[in-house]
Formats: sequence, structure tokens, C-alpha cells
Amino acid sequence: MLQVRDLVAAYGPIVALHGVSLDVPEGSIVAVLGANGAGKSSTLRVISGLLRAKSGSIKFDGQRIDHLSTEQIVSLGMSHVPEGRQLFGDLTVLENLRLGAYSRFGQADGGGRLAHRQGLSLLGRLQHDLIQAATGGIRDLARAVREHGQRRRDFDAALKQIFDYFPILAQRKNQVAGTLSGGEQQMLAIGRGLMARPRLLLLDEPSMGLAPLVTREIFEIVQTINRTEGVTILVVEQNANLALEIAHYGYVLETGRVALADTSENLRKSEAVRRSYLGQ
Ligand SMILES: Nc1ncnc2c1ncn2[C@@H]1O[C@H](COP(=O)(O)OP(=O)(O)OP(=O)(O)O)[C@@H](O)[C@H]1O
Ligand SMILES: [Mg+2]
Repeated sequence: MLQVRDLVAAYGPIVALHGVSLDVPEGSIVAVLGANGAGKSSTLRVISGLLRAKSGSIKFDGQRIDHLSTEQIVSLGMSHVPEGRQLFGDLTVLENLRLGAYSRFGQADGGGRLAHRQGLSLLGRLQHDLIQAATGGIRDLARAVREHGQRRRDFDAALKQIFDYFPILAQRKNQVAGTLSGGEQQMLAIGRGLMARPRLLLLDEPSMGLAPLVTREIFEIVQTINRTEGVTILVVEQNANLALEIAHYGYVLETGRVALADTSENLRKSEAVRRSYLGQ
């Protein structure tokens, strides 16, 4: 599904990636491990178009995406849940989720206000279109009404799905994001990413700053999303133990290069990985 080849990327004079290649097969969970500063976040940033590569290529569903904007990449079916969550702290849970849906559903999430506005303009247009009915104007109108209804239903379905996975978000839907606990904020960040209905979800350190039990709960939900929705997952993690428990395949980055690549099972058995990343 995702093929990354020889990515070189830099921040001004600082070269963060020296030629990173990796593959994410459809339906899989792939983990990217590595120490602080190894280039894990930079790799995700380049993939989602937030950072331009100096060279190398990225293919998503066989199509080159390395020159597309982040917005275009999201619309192809990829969401990025960034390091540190990056929620809108002053906005409510529901408002944050609406923003996640924007790329996919447009203004369908505007709710009553939008429906009202459309209703009024429809009335005005209806008179005009009655006259023009013979020319097909009515058909366009009917289609516009149908499409808006469909977007609204898709949005409601996406929201319901996220509340099913994270019931606490439903309970807190009118609370401002900044006052949620760390675990709830991570759930909201993942939920916001899922609102775009991605086929590939990039997760950057979902465990950061969270207690082990909450981390485990989040990883279990991520695994369920992968299994039941078929969402492919590329997850960056410091917690190598947990990441390798749910991942099928893993890459270890060291100073902007892939040092190891193998199945999770083999990485967990590897002496080097055990010593450096599993604390064993
Ligand atoms: N905005 C930036 N400006 C300059 N240098 C940066 C910037 N972001 C990252 N870097 C540098 O790029 C390198 C890779 O950073 P990156 O954030 O990708 O690492 P990481 O593996 O995600 O680390 P961590 O585990 O700490 O999140 C580091 O040397 C870092 O200092
Ligand atoms: Mg990082």
C-alpha cells in the first residue's frame, strides 16, 4: 500500500533522513522504532507531506504522492496523528472531531446551520428552477440535496464509530480538549484522524506521557481498528515492547537510516533490539 524509497530530508542544514526505505503492506501494522532524534517523526512528516523530501520517492496505492500537498494526501485516504497530539485545546471534543472530518465531508458537519442555509437558498432556487425544469435544473437541485444528505449520513456514521471505540469521548463531547486527561487527549487525536475515514493511519508515539495501563488500552483499540475496519497502520513508538506486540513488521531507525528491518517476532528475538530497545 505504501512504498517509501531512499528518502533524504533535512531541516535547513540538519539532515534528518539519510535515505530511508520502508514498505507498509495493505492491512498490516508496521512499527518504526528508534532512539530520540533517530528520524521517526521526520519519516512520518515526509510521508504525509508536512516535510518535503530532498530526494527519494513515496508511492501510495502505486501512485507517487511525494509532490502532493498534505490536503491532497488526506483525501487519498491517509491520516497523520502527530506527535504531541496537536489538538485545538480551546475547542470541544466534538469540534475537534468535526475538523478531522472536514477534508472528507466538506461542510456536511456544519449541522443545522448549514442545513438551514441550504434550505433557504433551495427555496429561492426552486422558483427559478421550476421555470427551468425542462432544461434539467431540477435534476441538479435534487442531486445537490441528495449529496448533502449522503455526506451528513457518512459524517454521522464516522462519529458513531469513533464513539463506539472511545465511549469516553461521547461522554466528554462538549468538554474543551485542553481539559481532557492525557489518555483522553490521545484518544481524541486518534479519533480526529479516523474522522477522515483513512485507509492508512500514521500514529506518532501514541504512548507518549501516558500510564502503562492507558497505553495498553489505546494499543488494543488500535489493533481492533486494524482488524475490524481493515485500516492499515504505521506506528512510531518509543515503547518497543508494546509496539512489537501488535505490529506485524518493524523497522529500527538509527540517525536517519534503517538499521534493522524484520518481522516483529524476529525483532523481539534479536539481541541488538533486546539490548537497545526492550531494556532486557
Ligand atoms: N523543526 C526542526 N528543525 C530542526 N531540526 C529538526 C526539526 N525537527 C527535527 N529536527 C532534527 O531532526 C532529527 C530527527 O528528528 P525527529 O523528530 O524525526 O526524531 P524522532 O526519532 O522522532 O525523535 P523523538 O523520539 O525524540 O520524537 C533530529 O536530529 C532533530 O533534532
Ligand atoms: Mg518524534
